[in-house]
Amino acid sequence: MHQKLSNMLLSWMITFGWLIYGSITVEPALGANKNPNCDRKLFHGTMYDSREAVVCGTRLHVGAGLSCCGDQPFNPATATCCKTEHEANVTQDLSEKVSTCCGLTAFNALNEICCDSTVAVKNATTAECCGKAAYDKDKQLCCRPDSDPVILEKTSPHHRCCRHKLYDFTTQCCHWKNDTHVEVKPKPPKGCDGNSGATAVKTTHGTCGQKTYNTHTEMCCGSLVIPKMSAKERCCGEGAYNYATECCCWPDHGPPERKPKTSPCCAVTSVVPHLTPEPPPSCSEPNTHVCGSSCYNPNERRCCERKETKPHWCCASGQCDAAPTVYNPHTHVCCDGCISELKPGMDQCCGDTPYGSAQRGLLCCHNVLYKDREDGEECSDAGIPYNPAKGTMCYSQFHASPGQHCCGAEVYRPLEEICCGGHRYPKRENLQCCGVKAYNITDPNMKCCKGTLYDLTHLGNHGHDAKCCGSVLQNPQKQEVCCSSKDEAVLYPKKTGFGCCGHLYFNSFLWSCCAGVLRPGHKQQSGMNECRLLSVNNLKDTELCREIYIGTVESVSLNSILFRNVLKLDGRNGTVQPVPFHHILMTPNRCTTTKLIVGKFYFFHDVNVFADFNHDTVIQSLHFFFSKCSL
Ligand SMILES: *[C@@H]1O[C@H](CO)[C@@H](O)[C@H](O)[C@H]1NC(C)=O
Ligand SMILES: *[C@@H]1O[C@H](CO)[C@@H](O)[C@H](O)[C@H]1NC(C)=O
Ligand SMILES: *[C@@H]1O[C@H](CO)[C@@H](O)[C@H](O)[C@H]1NC(C)=O
Ligand SMILES: *[C@@H]1O[C@H](CO)[C@@H](O)[C@H](O)[C@H]1NC(C)=O
Ligand SMILES: *[C@@H]1O[C@H](CO)[C@@H](O)[C@H](O)[C@H]1NC(C)=O
Repeated sequence: MHQKLSNMLLSWMITFGWLIYGSITVEPALGANKNPNCDRKLFHGTMYDSREAVVCGTRLHVGAGLSCCGDQPFNPATATCCKTEHEANVTQDLSEKVSTCCGLTAFNALNEICCDSTVAVKNATTAECCGKAAYDKDKQLCCRPDSDPVILEKTSPHHRCCRHKLYDFTTQCCHWKNDTHVEVKPKPPKGCDGNSGATAVKTTHGTCGQKTYNTHTEMCCGSLVIPKMSAKERCCGEGAYNYATECCCWPDHGPPERKPKTSPCCAVTSVVPHLTPEPPPSCSEPNTHVCGSSCYNPNERRCCERKETKPHWCCASGQCDAAPTVYNPHTHVCCDGCISELKPGMDQCCGDTPYGSAQRGLLCCHNVLYKDREDGEECSDAGIPYNPAKGTMCYSQFHASPGQHCCGAEVYRPLEEICCGGHRYPKRENLQCCGVKAYNITDPNMKCCKGTLYDLTHLGNHGHDAKCCGSVLQNPQKQEVCCSSKDEAVLYPKKTGFGCCGHLYFNSFLWSCCAGVLRPGHKQQSGMNECRLLSVNNLKDTELCREIYIGTVESVSLNSILFRNVLKLDGRNGTVQPVPFHHILMTPNRCTTTKLIVGKFYFFHDVNVFADFNHDTVIQSLHFFFSKCSL
């Protein structure tokens, strides 16, 4: 029967293993009380886990980590979704972690620039737009940027545009004959004529966000270009105000407003310099308002900028409600901003309700007071009262058999099953979790990349060379580069002249990299300094399962790394030996060494340091190492 399943159905069943085996449940997220219903979704009568599939438009798409771009599925780890008001478009091979949108096309702002909705290759780190093209301000000139832009090579700092010609304003004059013709002539001793010279053609454009604007006639406020009405104007939010007659007022909520100088708020704000160094944020998320220099949602918290507090017997909620209220503690009790009459025995607050801990039948779970509860009831992790002697509570689901273990919202039998991210699987030898799936850790055809499981069978012989790049599987047949830092790992299509600097992929013509930091400017010496943080997950068994160290970074100096709590591991015979004192790893080329986090643990050997992106704790890492190597 199993032999007859089509490949598609088989992969469906593998993906939805829990559908066959158990019900949909979710991993108790570390620390947090995550509601298992968050990831559980229903699509036309089929349950799916939103970590393993997505519904875009009217279709269900199976795959880990997918999101929707309009009605298209895409993986933000390898692609970017750019949206306009009416359209959405996916750009493949560029992760959202490192991309910017230019209209409907995504680009890498490190090496490219968006000019007039067109992606242009940067010629310099400080490149600016000239029409749809990029130019290097230091070496080139953009002539007639507003009407008919042309980029010309600057031959000296004295060169200026004369329509689409260049002239040296110290020795030459630019004559405008008519709308289409100009002439460059030697400068006579008395200087250039009125209709010629630099003033008519001086570059008067600046950049405002991704737009260019005329600095003489327009202003850039917020990221908006607005017409300049007078020389006495300054920005106020995304508008302008006349500083001779008005001031820019910052209300408690919302964006700043222009007000006549006579208005009361001008007296207050005049203490604050008008040229506020930090513009107020534009709170673009729906339902958000400005609070000082940040945005907030009034439904979630309050803006406490102007809160006045009184020292005694004030009843104010932790959220800093309107005005705190004064009360008498002999007759009343204050619970989370609410004043209630004091009754005998009241000694506790449950949210905003007072109660007495000696009262029978009361149970306070997650700030909600439950009445008429039986003796012996407790709060479950999800904050629901239940009696442990009568059953097991898995999240908010009650199972009428006491003393069970939970896997998501279900009970499970650890002797017969393994629980991966809230999904149960029958126990087998060498079975380990990878995200919400279970796999045979000795199976060379399976690879776990940061919680996403990949079947390498379709790669054939190349499967053994497949590596992880964060949660993405790098296809060894494709020309791809994985750039990784302590925070991210990003896959890029390979390009000549480009290198990794942490998780960024830079054009070495524009940038140089040292110890994970990019600096403008081409490195002159031969060779390009690249640096990336290697992953222990990408070591072949033969490299991994030999003598290797694990330790905590204590300090990093110019040319060495100091490790403490070092253990020497040997995967061949499964031995662990503590290394007395410190271990110093020399790093002769500081520039090729990535940033390590002091206090975090890493694997290392004589030359390289490896991070374990798959596991968060040392015990998980060690368990992986010995499981993998002892086989
Ligand atoms: C969608 O993105 C691709 C890749 O970046 C680009 O080539 C294409 O022009 C975009 N489509 C539209 C309609 O802009
Ligand atoms: C700028 O890029 C263009 C191609 O886009 C190239 O022809 C030109 O040589 C570059 N200029 C500099 C200064 O590198
Ligand atoms: C501008 O001047 C040039 C040369 O003097 C002439 O050939 C051309 O016709 C003129 N164009 C216009 C629009 O007057
Ligand atoms: C795990 O994989 C190894 C190697 O492919 C295989 O020999 C073994 O039978 C598998 N174990 C189980 C329980 O499937
Ligand atoms: C483990 O094996 C390696 C090589 O086979 C050997 O050098 C090392 O001494 C062994 N360690 C112990 C504690 O036996």
